[in-house]
Amino acid sequence: MGVQDFWVVTVIGFCFQAQILSSQNLTCNPNDMKALEDFTSSLITVIDGWGSSFSSDCCKWEGITCNSSSSLGIGLNNSIDTFRVVKLELPSKRLAGNLSASLGTLDQLRTLNLSHNLLMHSLPTSLFHLQNLELLDLSSNDFSGPIPVDIELPSIQFLDISQNLLNGSLPGSICDKNSTQLWVLNMAANYFSGNLPQGFGNCTSLEDLDLSTNYLTGTSNGISKGIFRLRKLTRLSIHDNMLSGELSEEIGNLINLVRLDISTNGFSGTIPDVFHSLGRLQNFVAHSNRFGGRIPPSLSSSSTITLLNLKNNSLQGTIDLDCSAMTSLTSLDLGSNRFDGPIPSNLPSCQHLNTVNLARNNFTGEIPESFKSFHSLSYISLSNCSLSNISSVLQILQQCQNLTTLVLTLNFRGEQFPADPTLQFEKLKILIIANCRLTGVIPQWLSTSSRLQLLDISWNHLEGTIPVWFGNFSSLFYLDVSNNSFTGEIPRSLTGLPSLINGRISIEEPSYDFPLFMKWNVSASALQYNQVWSFRPTLDFSNNNLNGPIWPDFRKLRLLHVLDLKYNRLSGPIPSSLSEMVSLETLDLAHNDLSGIIPPSLVKLSFLSKFSVADNELYGVIPTGGQFLTFSSSSFEGNNLCGYDAAPCPSGQDGPLRTWFGKSSKDYTGVIAGVCVGFVFGIACFIGIDRYVWTF
Ligand SMILES: *[C@@H]1O[C@H](CO)[C@@H](O)[C@H](O)[C@H]1NC(C)=O
Ligand SMILES: *[C@@H]1O[C@H](CO)[C@@H](O)[C@H](O)[C@H]1NC(C)=O
Ligand SMILES: *[C@@H]1O[C@H](CO)[C@@H](O)[C@H](O)[C@H]1NC(C)=O
Ligand SMILES: *[C@@H]1O[C@H](CO)[C@@H](O)[C@H](O)[C@H]1NC(C)=O
Ligand SMILES: *[C@@H]1O[C@H](CO)[C@@H](O)[C@H](O)[C@H]1NC(C)=O
Ligand SMILES: *[C@@H]1O[C@H](CO)[C@@H](O)[C@H](O)[C@H]1NC(C)=O
Ligand SMILES: *[C@@H]1O[C@H](CO)[C@@H](O)[C@H](O)[C@H]1NC(C)=O
Ligand SMILES: *[C@@H]1O[C@H](CO)[C@@H](O)[C@H](O)[C@H]1NC(C)=O
Ligand SMILES: *[C@@H]1O[C@H](CO)[C@@H](O)[C@H](O)[C@H]1NC(C)=O
Ligand SMILES: *[C@@H]1O[C@H](CO)[C@@H](O)[C@H](O)[C@H]1NC(C)=O
Ligand SMILES: *[C@@H]1O[C@H](CO)[C@@H](O)[C@H](O)[C@H]1NC(C)=O
Ligand SMILES: *[C@@H]1O[C@H](CO)[C@@H](O)[C@H](O)[C@H]1NC(C)=O
Repeated sequence: MGVQDFWVVTVIGFCFQAQILSSQNLTCNPNDMKALEDFTSSLITVIDGWGSSFSSDCCKWEGITCNSSSSLGIGLNNSIDTFRVVKLELPSKRLAGNLSASLGTLDQLRTLNLSHNLLMHSLPTSLFHLQNLELLDLSSNDFSGPIPVDIELPSIQFLDISQNLLNGSLPGSICDKNSTQLWVLNMAANYFSGNLPQGFGNCTSLEDLDLSTNYLTGTSNGISKGIFRLRKLTRLSIHDNMLSGELSEEIGNLINLVRLDISTNGFSGTIPDVFHSLGRLQNFVAHSNRFGGRIPPSLSSSSTITLLNLKNNSLQGTIDLDCSAMTSLTSLDLGSNRFDGPIPSNLPSCQHLNTVNLARNNFTGEIPESFKSFHSLSYISLSNCSLSNISSVLQILQQCQNLTTLVLTLNFRGEQFPADPTLQFEKLKILIIANCRLTGVIPQWLSTSSRLQLLDISWNHLEGTIPVWFGNFSSLFYLDVSNNSFTGEIPRSLTGLPSLINGRISIEEPSYDFPLFMKWNVSASALQYNQVWSFRPTLDFSNNNLNGPIWPDFRKLRLLHVLDLKYNRLSGPIPSSLSEMVSLETLDLAHNDLSGIIPPSLVKLSFLSKFSVADNELYGVIPTGGQFLTFSSSSFEGNNLCGYDAAPCPSGQDGPLRTWFGKSSKDYTGVIAGVCVGFVFGIACFIGIDRYVWTF
């Protein structure tokens, strides 16, 4: 019996049962019952609590509410028409299949919540004519196609069809047909295209409008005749669309706005100077547009704005905020613009400002002395800001009592990493000074930053050894010292990092509305992270001159996700105990001087998705099974390994064996031994192979 037959049987059984039951006590309206039957039969899944213990009283089914509490129904007046379905609520029930048009006959329905299911195909037009429907939530399903043009929902208050696959144009008519009580309208994250309909201007009671993440086009002039008339709006989200042109001054009509997000569109021109009208606005998010000119005075002196994000535009001039007026500002993101002049020295007088991103602007000079009293500051990024004099920058910022995150990437080109023993950053949790070409060694003062969770000093010219005291950083879970000139061994102390062994890494960071960090990789493309915990636990020592062994005790780091040791001069065997690092996703040991075999135990690393041992002095048969079936030849090249496409293991006893060993003469005997043992006894023999080889 196929899956389909099974459902057919289930459905027939269902109908049959329903019919038997209908001769008994029937407390819900038969028409409503019929609509619900059609609803179930258009699904390809069963509804928990409907299928098995089927009662004739549909008012008692899970998720159904009738216009009288159903406990009252039984034993009282069982008049058939008394009880009507007024609510159908089955969110997050894994319901799959089509939505039956029959639901449109539930004419007393006031609430329909089928969000977070797997319903698909088109939205039935009949649903959009339910005269009593107040709340319609079909969000997070797989509905596709257009939404009906002809909408008449006179009682609707709340309508959410976000996160589907709906397309076509937005229905302006939703507001023409007496939808005067509609206060929440969410159509975000679909494939809607075309202009923002002017008809939305008739939804005069809208307070929360979300049309974000679609393909809407049109200019602000068109928007003005529509949504910019909705004076009751408190939240307007139209981000991630293709809206363009200048932002009309009429946005100043939306006097009740609290949150306004117009980011990631093509708006250009200057930001209109209308923020004195927007006397309740707290969040203004306009990043990733093409705004030019200066920050308008009414914005830079707004007393209500708490979060201002104008990142990734073409704003220019000096940054000139009136901090005596901006008493609410906590979060300021002006990164990736064309601001110049000095870093504004008055920022510390914005009393509540704790998060500042000024990265990627072209400032002149150094950090102002006034920052010494920037006690509210907890996060600051000044990456790629043409800063110089790292010594002075650190001298000043160490005075900021609440500073936990400091990002200084791409500045100070070629300066020396300050060794000044009086420097102290005790509260620092995150320090990123990558890509500065800094010279010198890792300074001793850094050992005072005992709360460090994340340290990235990659892409500098640092020398000397990696300090043993890194092992004392009990919260450290991300360490990147790659692309420097470090020498010596990897400190063994790092195999005891508590947060990578059993660490409940307790990271209490506020949630920011903009990316906090950018990590630069080799190709200079950026990775963005919004939260500290989106960094995978990592030890990256790649591209240095480290020597010595890979410590078998790395096995203790059960929470480590990335171990990158490539391009060093590490030698000795690959410890088979690395198989105990159960969280490993990346293990890159390429371009070292490692010898011996690839321990077969590594096939146990079930999360390993990136693995390379290329260009070492390994020999023997590549383990098979587990994730090893997915690695390509390039992971193994430049060794004396066999068992991959480019170097199949010899199957006969003659010729081939010699040919592929012929590539290298070193370890000849050992290699033969290892391979022969492998071939004769199978994979199990490899567990003790190191010993066996050398006593052969
Ligand atoms: C209706 O249900 C009540 C209680 O469950 C029962 O006493 C009564 O006999 C039922 N009536 C019919 C017609 O089945
Ligand atoms: C669901 O709708 C699609 C298209 O509208 C149709 O092809 C399909 O047969 C329907 N499936 C069921 C179970 O009704
Ligand atoms: C049941 O119906 C009768 C008449 O139809 C009415 O007098 C009585 O009050 C009703 N009882 C309840 C509990 O509604
Ligand atoms: C339920 O709604 C129907 C239709 O509006 C009405 O006739 C009936 O009296 C209502 N029942 C209760 C218990 O409110
Ligand atoms: C629909 O149900 C989900 C899950 O319970 C809930 O989160 C959501 O708020 C409901 N929708 C409305 C509009 O109440
Ligand atoms: C909507 O999507 C369907 C496929 O799901 C496609 O056939 C149709 O052309 C699309 N309509 C518009 C207006 O993009
Ligand atoms: C809709 O509004 C029109 C006039 O604005 C009115 O005549 C009509 O009765 C209303 N319909 C409903 C269902 O409220
Ligand atoms: C608002 O609705 C009325 C009819 O109810 C219509 O005449 C008018 O054009 C609508 N306004 C807009 C901007 O669509
Ligand atoms: C910056 O904005 C442009 C244009 O809106 C966008 O294409 C680009 O992805 C944005 N860049 C970043 C890093 O957000
Ligand atoms: C640094 O900023 C300059 C402009 O200020 C820009 O051209 C350059 O691409 C930036 N570098 C990186 C790596 O983002
Ligand atoms: C930065 O500003 C200096 C002058 O202050 C100018 O010479 C330089 O070209 C600017 N760099 C960029 C990338 O705009
Ligand atoms: C420093 O941080 C603490 C705790 O996060 C906070 O209570 C205090 O107000 C902050 N200091 C200033 C000056 O903002």
